[in-house]
Amino acid sequence: MVNMSVNLGGLHMKNPVTTASGTFAAGLEYSDFIDVAALGAVTTKGVSLNGWEGNASPRIAETPSGMLNSIGLQNPGVNHLIQNEIPWLKAKGASVIVNVSGHSIDEYVQVIEALEPHPVDAYEVNVSCPNVDAGGMTMGCSPVSVGQVVQKCRCATSRPLIVKLTPNVGDITEIAKAAEASGANAISLINTLLGMAIDARTRKPKLARVVGGLSGPAVKPVALRMVWECSHAVSVPILGMGGICTGEDAVEFMLAGATAVAVGTANFTNPHASADVVDGISHYCEMYGVKDVNELIGALEC
Ligand SMILES: Cc1cc2nc3c(=O)[nH]c(=O)nc-3n(C[C@H](O)[C@H](O)[C@H](O)COP(=O)(O)O)c2cc1C
Repeated sequence: MVNMSVNLGGLHMKNPVTTASGTFAAGLEYSDFIDVAALGAVTTKGVSLNGWEGNASPRIAETPSGMLNSIGLQNPGVNHLIQNEIPWLKAKGASVIVNVSGHSIDEYVQVIEALEPHPVDAYEVNVSCPNVDAGGMTMGCSPVSVGQVVQKCRCATSRPLIVKLTPNVGDITEIAKAAEASGANAISLINTLLGMAIDARTRKPKLARVVGGLSGPAVKPVALRMVWECSHAVSVPILGMGGICTGEDAVEFMLAGATAVAVGTANFTNPHASADVVDGISHYCEMYGVKDVNELIGALEC
């Protein structure tokens, strides 16, 4: 028997696998395929104080080994999550990480304050969405503004606070250090890489917003590199993601320094992907005589 449990900055997970925000909703749509309680946690779609409509369509485009999205954090608002998705997830026995969005620092704080009386296990503060004009990546590109938003969120909760970083910066370790210094219990990375796709026949961009966020296996080498860099820059644990489809992909992230991993775009082609990744990690451990999954964290041999 392999010990699969990990501690992600105070969040006790029965195994190291969660879902990447925005690719699994809150799990309801996947419940024919997957037992959400079998995952280390479910990370919900980004939520703001009031509902957001998101960006104009088309806002999804398939690209080689990946996809572009410009959803723009469409969501029905925090009260909907409180009344519907959180009770459903808790009734199923899932651990819940709520991904928090805002157009301003105050809005991030207000979302957390609204959630505080409810059974949320951790917050993931998204300062990295490339698809909104205010908040998101505009905040996540500067150590100063990341520090400001994390500090304010820290004051609003004693629950585990995970800060989600954008890869669209020169040096991600500077942003990671700012998040840690301001009270983050963990960091998560990567959000999507800014990209675009063009239809040569129509001479038009494939996304209405022209640019969007690239995800899926195409981004995995970039994500691994950034997890590895951050693991040497901060002492808080890392939730790694970007192109994970299999248990072996997840093990690679753990070897690079991640304590836990999130499965994102893979859910769209295989709705059972996150459970398969749990099984795959366990299988890897059995094959290689690893008794405790924590032994894998940062165990890369260079
Ligand atoms: C359609 C879609 C919606 C997303 N929505 C969010 C979101 O609401 N909040 C967030 O922090 N990240 C969001 N992301 C980013 C993912 O959580 C993840 O960081 C990224 O896709 C990389 O992982 P992957 O390659 O496994 O998908 C979204 C990604 C996709 C593809």
